[in-house]
Amino acid sequence: MIKLGVNIDHVATIRQARKTYEPDPVEAAYICEKNGGDGITVHLREDRRHIQDRDVRMLRETVTTRLNLEMGMAPEIIKIALEIKPEQVTLVPEKREEVTTEGGLDVVGSLERVQEVVALFNQKKIRVSLFIDPEAEQVKASAEAGADFIELHTGTYANAWPDEDKLEEELAALQKASTLAREFGLRVNGGHGLNYHNVAPVAAIAEMEELNIGHSIISRAVMVGLPAAVREMKEAMIVGRRTVVTDKILRAHS
Ligand code: PXP
Repeated sequence: MIKLGVNIDHVATIRQARKTYEPDPVEAAYICEKNGGDGITVHLREDRRHIQDRDVRMLRETVTTRLNLEMGMAPEIIKIALEIKPEQVTLVPEKREEVTTEGGLDVVGSLERVQEVVALFNQKKIRVSLFIDPEAEQVKASAEAGADFIELHTGTYANAWPDEDKLEEELAALQKASTLAREFGLRVNGGHGLNYHNVAPVAAIAEMEELNIGHSIISRAVMVGLPAAVREMKEAMIVGRRTVVTDKILRAHS
């Protein structure tokens, strides 16, 4: 079954707006796990704009599914990640001025550094995912870097809405990159910009193991509560995958 990694950064964003103690991402993680979240994702940014060191340390103690730490490759953050030992780290490009992660990691252009960082985590048996654009050369370089997973950047697909041709094109790119990744022995996740309306076709890509979704779930949680928001997203993903599989079977028999 396709898995949902819930990114809870924006729970911390609300807390940091007042620099107080609520809402607590640790409590949010527990609720996500109890309502169908298969993993918890947080991004410890260098500027600490949302998730704080204390959050990551406490989540390490409390998360019972899987903790996925998104991070840039700054030595200070690598040191923390090696100490905390999440089940997985996802390496992302990070710029201070960006509102959210923009574009995938340029693994081709920084192969040696990525290889070095992947090796550090491999030594500690922490699996590594690389957040990349769905491009053949980035997939190939990710395999060369020794990563276990890639996370395909779905932001360009998400931003293509409502242009149907562009959506099809971006979806095809995600499918092509996923197939290629499997040929290279890489496992495939996806994420960024996914919401209740656009998630189904991405969930239907058979190679996708897990989707990491944050902003849309936390936004919906403001309206309907976090348990319902998580359950609805999981359902949308499952239905998305099932519908396309059923479609294929029907077409094969028609
Ligand atoms: N995956 C990665 C690598 C990200 O950087 C983010 C944003 O923090 C997400 C997934 C989640 O994106 P969104 O908040 O748009 O669902």
